[in-house]
Amino acid sequence: MSQFLRVAEKSRPRVTITVDGATVEALEGDTLLTALLTTGRRVRESEFSDGPRAGFCVIGACQDCWVWMDGGERTRACSTYITDGMTIFTHNPEWPWTPPA
Ligand code: FES
Repeated sequence: MSQFLRVAEKSRPRVTITVDGATVEALEGDTLLTALLTTGRRVRESEFSDGPRAGFCVIGACQDCWVWMDGGERTRACSTYITDGMTIFTHNPEWPWTPPA
């Protein structure tokens, strides 16, 4: 089950990214948020509560979609385009973390 349903542009080339150690398939030109929400129901865990977050504004304003690159820097999932082989984390890799059920 996913939060977003892809209804158009389904023929773009497929690429893979790694999310929390798992391989996720996306389409070239997707943002990270699109890749995450067409394959699942969450973008990240909230650092302020125990609830998952899925982004809100989708235009780079609300800061509800922060994810972490494998170099440790944060980026907004809604305004970051994927690249083939990209590795991200939906939590700060330095925090204790339990994968969602
Ligand atoms: S969803 Fe609001 S900044 Fe990304």
